[in-house]
This record gives sequence, structure tokens and C-alpha cells, in this order.
Amino acid sequence: MGQRNTNDVLMEPTVFETFESNVRSYCRKYPVIFSKAKGSVLIDQSGREYIDFLCGAGSCNYGHNNDYIKGKVVEYLMGDGLLHGLDMYSIAKGEFIDCLEREILIPRGFDYKVLFPGPTGTNAVEVALKIARKVKGRSNVLALMGGFHGMSLGSLALTTERSARDACGVSLGNVTHVPHPSMMPGFDTIAYIDMLLSDDHSGVDKPAAIIVESVQGEGGINIVSNEWLRDMRALCDKHDMLLILDEIQTGCGRTGSFFSFERADIIPDIVVMAKSLGGIGMPCSIALVKPEYDVLLPGEHNGTFRGFQLAFVAGKAAIEYMMEHNLEAETVRKGRIVEEYLAARLRQIDPSLTFRGLGLMWGIDFGSYPCGTTQQIRKACFENGLILELSGREDTVVKIMPPLVIEDEQLVQGLEMLMKVIAETVNPAGMVPAPQSDMIKPVV
Ligand SMILES: Cc1ncc(COP(=O)(O)O)c(C=O)c1O
Repeated sequence: MGQRNTNDVLMEPTVFETFESNVRSYCRKYPVIFSKAKGSVLIDQSGREYIDFLCGAGSCNYGHNNDYIKGKVVEYLMGDGLLHGLDMYSIAKGEFIDCLEREILIPRGFDYKVLFPGPTGTNAVEVALKIARKVKGRSNVLALMGGFHGMSLGSLALTTERSARDACGVSLGNVTHVPHPSMMPGFDTIAYIDMLLSDDHSGVDKPAAIIVESVQGEGGINIVSNEWLRDMRALCDKHDMLLILDEIQTGCGRTGSFFSFERADIIPDIVVMAKSLGGIGMPCSIALVKPEYDVLLPGEHNGTFRGFQLAFVAGKAAIEYMMEHNLEAETVRKGRIVEEYLAARLRQIDPSLTFRGLGLMWGIDFGSYPCGTTQQIRKACFENGLILELSGREDTVVKIMPPLVIEDEQLVQGLEMLMKVIAETVNPAGMVPAPQSDMIKPVV
């Protein structure tokens, strides 16, 4: 696997550096040219392999080139299946909806209409906003500080990252940001929002909705508790606003259940999904909308690529794969491996380092370290053959987000590389703590 064909000519990065826009970013952090990928491994054109803790920013939960999913896609292609269908009825789309209903929604008792916006996450967020504003007849929407919801103007207004907002060139409005509970431990954010919405002198316009990530991915792996989610559900009912759950990064099993909010036993009014929904990195997004809020008239939301049939084929196969391989329970089990591993090893390196996560979505917080520490860690990891990303304020959180199908040994190998790099970075003169055998044993 992954060995370069000796007849291949190595590509130079000049083509990108000369002709591609300056806006490109991931390639600057991992400056090689990738050619292949399999499972939890990315392979560059020279044949070098990298363990993937980035996972296409959450788009490859089922592993790169997953054989089962790819097989279904290839079969469909070879059978001259319809590839582009706008929003016309098609077999591929019908089977995807049917599978989603049968395997995911009905067993959970969820009654949602499935709305196909354009194929990216931000498209789904835009349509959720449009629906909430139409249903409630109000423009204001609440969003949590630290949240990331996309880069088109409506969703960018929700997103808090300063540089992304500054770059858009227009004022971003109709959103009120409220503190995430992780920002001020001990501060009752639910009571605060309740006060904002009850006080006729708060200056906050009554909102149509609030949008929530149950675990903030780009914001630094900030988790809201089950109790907070339940209280927020009640608050939405009290103040007549819709609860929108952004499951774009946390969905498709990432936190150990298909939807990350299931742990709180709540039912959101709208759920937006994308990323791994398309199985093997195919673009696909949906908004799940309670029937009573399915208010957009035919054509009121549109987009040419809402009907990318290969994504539907891959999406259906991905759900089948997830069910067949018990991926939700497996994610919980592997999450425990990460948790126990970090608890043991980080303590040896620096007991003040904190970490947090759910399922296979973890972050190590370097907020108390000098600026640039995490960038150094990311670079050294890459040089050692491990690809991972940073998130949070000033990129101070190192993110661990491997494909859910990662083998236990590979997971531990990646964690081992990361610990070595962290130890060498934060304590360059000191000893690198040796792994102890009981720490690297998978937790069953
Ligand atoms: C939680 C969340 N919402 C929305 C988006 C936007 O998705 P896309 O990049 O597909 O537009 C992202 C992307 O990272 C995300 O993590």
C-alpha cells in the first residue's frame, strides 16, 4: 500500500505556488503533495505515510477509500447510474433517504423532513437560518462564542473567529453571541441568556433561534453538558425560539453516537449535517427539519449541486457500514483508549496540561504555554509522520480526530508520536517519559 509507482514523475509544488490563490491554507501546514490514502493513513507522492488525526476536518469518519463504500460507488459508476440530478427524484437519492429513515431516524423516534441544500456544511447552516427566520418572523439568532458554522455570509455571522469575520468586507449582523459555558466555569449561561431574553432593557432583540455545537470543533473542543443541552431545549421553548444543532463536525458517529446530542435525550428543531455524511469525502449536506417547520416553498432554497448522486450512494453505504461494524460502540471504546492514554502520559510530561473530548474528538489545551507552542507541535508531528490540526483561541488546542475505523495499534502509535513531540517541545532539555506497557494496552 502507498508505494509510489517507479514510473511516476514527482510533481513540483510550483504549480500551486504559481497559479493557485493565496487563500490556500492546509497545504502550508503539511507542505507535501498527497497522492493516495487508505484507512487512517495519508500517503504523499514519494510514498511516505502519515497517520491521519485530521480526517478531512471530520469528513472521513469511515476511513479513506473505505472498501465497502468505495465498492458501492464504483458499482454505481460502472452501471451508468445518474450522476447529477438537481433535486429530481432518483433511485440513489430515494435509497439514501430510505436508509437514513430506517437505520437512523425511525429507531430514535425522530420525525424530520430531510432537506437537501447545496452540498457543503455552510449551505445547510444557511437554510436552517432561513427557515428559523421565516418560521418566527424575526431576524436575530443567538450563537455561542467560539462557534464555527461556516464561511458564507449568514453562517459567517454566527462564526466568531476574528480573522474570518474581518476578511468578509461587510458588516455581519442579525446575530447575538452569548458566552459558551466553558468560558466562565461557575457562571450560569442559561440564566444569563434567560435574563437577556426576559429583560425589556437588555437591548437584545428576540431571536428566532439559537445554534449550538454540542462539542465545538474549531472552537477548541468545548463540550456543553447534557444538563446544559436539556436546559437550553427548555429555554428555547420558554422563549419561543428554535433549537438548531450543528452536527456538521460532531455527527456521523464522531462522538460515539450518530448525533452528538443524543446523550442529552433532546430533540432539536433543526439538525444540520455535512462532512462525513457523504461517506468517503463526497460533498453532501442535509438539514433535518421538524415537519411543522418545513415552511420553505418549492424553490425558495436552491442550488445546482444538491443532487450529487454519488454522495447519496456513498452516504447510504456509509450508514450500512456504520451499522454493520458497530461503529458507534467502537468509537466509545476507542475514545476510552485516548482518554486513559492522555490521562497517564500527559501527567508525566506536565501535570498542568488539560485535555477534553468525547468519542474520537479530543483536544489538548496549551493555553498556558507561550504563543507558537502548538504550531511547533503540529510541525514536528508532521515531520514525524502524524497529521493533526489546531483549534481554539489562538490555535492553542491540539486536536486529535482520527477516522473512527482506526486500528487500536495505529491509534496508539499516533498518540505515541504526539506524546514524544509534546515532551520534546515543552521540555526540550528533559527526558522523554517512556511509555509504560500498561498505558498502551487498548482499554476493552
Ligand atoms: C461545526 C461546523 N459547522 C459548519 C461548518 C462548515 O462546513 P463547510 O466547510 O462544509 O461549509 C464546519 C466546517 O468545519 C463545522 O465544523
